[in-house]
Amino acid sequence: MRYGIISDLHANIEALTVAVAEIDRMGVDKIVCMGDLIGYNASPRDVLDLILSRKIDCISGNHDRYLSGVTPLDQSVRKDTAEVIEWTKKQVTPEQASFVGELPKFRMEGTEFLMVHGSPRHEDEYILTADILRGSLNHLMTKWPGTSVCFYGHTHVPICASDERVENQLPEGTTLKLNRFTTYLINVGSVGQPRDGHPETAFGLFDSTKREITFRRLPYDVKSAQAKVLAAGLSERMAKRLESGR
Ligand SMILES: [Fe+2]
Repeated sequence: MRYGIISDLHANIEALTVAVAEIDRMGVDKIVCMGDLIGYNASPRDVLDLILSRKIDCISGNHDRYLSGVTPLDQSVRKDTAEVIEWTKKQVTPEQASFVGELPKFRMEGTEFLMVHGSPRHEDEYILTADILRGSLNHLMTKWPGTSVCFYGHTHVPICASDERVENQLPEGTTLKLNRFTTYLINVGSVGQPRDGHPETAFGLFDSTKREITFRRLPYDVKSAQAKVLAAGLSERMAKRLESGR
């Protein structure tokens, strides 16, 4: 099977449109999404329209759970993040809100791979240190035996990690061959708010038969996405970070 892998769309329809068009051009059997469909940016309704019309299989991210109320918007959530969630609640249709509210926190794609948002240990855990990465891999190997690939999101940074090696320099078009008997944690990066210093939208192609993962980066209309954020009266910081990829 060939899969289009997307994550952290964050209501950025300009970026998502480019990513999905390229995934269609490459030809896949299915597109799957590791969560955070909304938040930060200003096109939640368009993004959810596309996800629903294409029947893309999604899990929930922390922003999706803020929207549905599964996770409360308490003091731990940044003010500008919470403001976008409150604004988003007024933008989405009732059908879209209930779709987001019913998303699972994780799911197995047949016997091919596990989908999580944060880490295999917890949906809100950020895999940002070597220790957390090692712990997450250990957890995956002990609690999910037989699952040798786990896709995650949340950090918005592309990486392909196993207990043998960690690849985090993954320029456009990088293809990695996965060993048959090695366990991998893979983040293809964020469609709608990249944070690895590159503004290009990030997504991936996974060929489960060949066991190959390809990391893709493409430019999109950042200025249009920024203009919508500002026109909606949302955070200037959120608009600005799109051009730096930070
Ligand atoms: Fe995210």
